[in-house]
Amino acid sequence: MTRSQALLNQIKGDNLMTDSRQRILTGDRPTGKLHLGHYVGSLKNRVELQNKYDTFLIIADVQALTTNFESPEQLSQDVRQVARDYLAAGIDPEKATIFVQSMVPEIAELTVFFSMIVTVNQLRHNPTIKAESEQYGYKEMTYGFLGYPISQAADISFCKANLVPVGEDQIPHIEQTRKIVRKFNNMYDQVFPEPEALISDFPRLMGLDGKAKMSKSLNNAIYLSDTEKEVNQKIMQAKTDPARIHKDDPGHPEVCTVFHYHQAFNTDESDEIEADCRAGRIGCVACKKRLGKKLNLFLDPMRERRIKYIENPALIDEILMRGTEKARKVAGETLSQVRAAMKLDYFSA
Ligand code: TRP
Repeated sequence: MTRSQALLNQIKGDNLMTDSRQRILTGDRPTGKLHLGHYVGSLKNRVELQNKYDTFLIIADVQALTTNFESPEQLSQDVRQVARDYLAAGIDPEKATIFVQSMVPEIAELTVFFSMIVTVNQLRHNPTIKAESEQYGYKEMTYGFLGYPISQAADISFCKANLVPVGEDQIPHIEQTRKIVRKFNNMYDQVFPEPEALISDFPRLMGLDGKAKMSKSLNNAIYLSDTEKEVNQKIMQAKTDPARIHKDDPGHPEVCTVFHYHQAFNTDESDEIEADCRAGRIGCVACKKRLGKKLNLFLDPMRERRIKYIENPALIDEILMRGTEKARKVAGETLSQVRAAMKLDYFSA
């Protein structure tokens, strides 16, 4: 090799270093509209991180089937709903790759390979699996449900993700992924990076009922796609400090859902509102109105971005198809390495 060739290689190497930014993978099960809890918990992070990292967003329809296998009719609509919510929230399809899990068969293939190195006990002891199976009232778990953390490890690993921005409940799955990857790399060959979870710094957003986290199934959510009127109506019904009967009673913002939302979506005014509430200077109705205004201001740009996709639904499909194609290409490359590492590359030269 001549000196200039060596130099060229070095430059190319450097270019590779700067071009191959760290990769992010995260995503959601398509089970309906995304709400403010999704935004605070993870979507906000993703919108910011897409500028710094090569971002992959998975719409995990196979994982949705682990609980909704009896009603797949809804999926095709829900997949598009999630994509629309991502785009409305500010995910830029030029920066982030949005794709559909079931259309990348290499993920299913990798799930099978990974399943050889995970014990049934590891899955049984996964705290999120336990909590969810209780929540769904499962007396017995299907193999697919018990094993979905393996499938999630494949979601993360097929694209060699380094970072996984998720809510706290997903930590056990990232831990499981790290274990799998470590074992794979030690046993066969160094194919995968060990991914890190990136957890949102804001605590879980409470639902309008003030009793539990915001969730679709509890019917206590404000959706990113709600209209101005819907947002205002929902806020008017939100639970506040139960000890406040008259509007000049001193309030306890720490137990008030509406204050919790001020902290999340009205940071500039939340100190002032806290002080006014404690002193009984602001009543709950006035406080709610201020929140409604802020929330609608926050949602307005999302509403504007959404119009284009409502008017032209084919755009969503195009973005999903393009993203899925790119994901498949990356998956194909990783799976060749996996097959070689596992000595399954019988017919390659
Ligand atoms: N389990 C995640 C949730 O319920 C969704 C998901 C599927 C995911 N595959 C993933 C998240 C991979 C992060 C990485 O929200």
